[in-house]
Amino acid sequence: MKFFVDTADVAAIKELADLGMVDGVTTNPSLILKSGRDILEVTKEICEMIPGPVSAEVVATEAPEMIAEGLKLAKIASNIAIKVPLTWAGLTACKAFASEGHMVNVTLCFSAAQAILAAKAGATFISPFLGRLDDINLDGVQLIDDIRTIYDNYDFKTEILAASIRSVNHITEVAKIGADVITAPPSVIKAMASHPLTDKGLDQFLKDWAKTGQKIV
Ligand code: E4P
Repeated sequence: MKFFVDTADVAAIKELADLGMVDGVTTNPSLILKSGRDILEVTKEICEMIPGPVSAEVVATEAPEMIAEGLKLAKIASNIAIKVPLTWAGLTACKAFASEGHMVNVTLCFSAAQAILAAKAGATFISPFLGRLDDINLDGVQLIDDIRTIYDNYDFKTEILAASIRSVNHITEVAKIGADVITAPPSVIKAMASHPLTDKGLDQFLKDWAKTGQKIV
């Protein structure tokens, strides 16, 4: 399973990358806003740090403008995955980008039917949004399961990139299903290391060790 980090915060990406936890990065207009940085400048910096796919999202809503924006984003670096929304215009742009050999991440996917269209249009990644489905009492994990089944049935090569991850549980659930990639905020990736029994056990070991009066170094 590949780990993408869902942020445009360069320091947070670097901290995780130094531990070998980052196979790629996803950004979106809201994350660029949060970073307070210029999209071209911050995306270039991320691409120089991370050799894997770095998703940068178009903001036009019509295919010709999306294509112009995507081609500009793709010029930032060879590891850019152009991110397009799952609309008919986005699928049109996806097909154009894929035909020219660019990586494409089709985002804002909320149904298996949408995921089929993205695969047919040559998407490199499909991004189903788990958390936002859960927010409206629909089952995001079930959507990943459905897409996995369909893609396997037809040997679609598009990678399932589980997005809008809000919890550690989301990650383990989609890992069991066989999502190819997860993208999660740095805080969720770091939370994977935490367990109350680890904290409790360590506390006891340290107390007992202090009683031995010994030192290792
Ligand atoms: C994915 O590429 C998106 O940037 C992201 O996962 C959206 O997550 P959110 O629903 O927490 O904003």
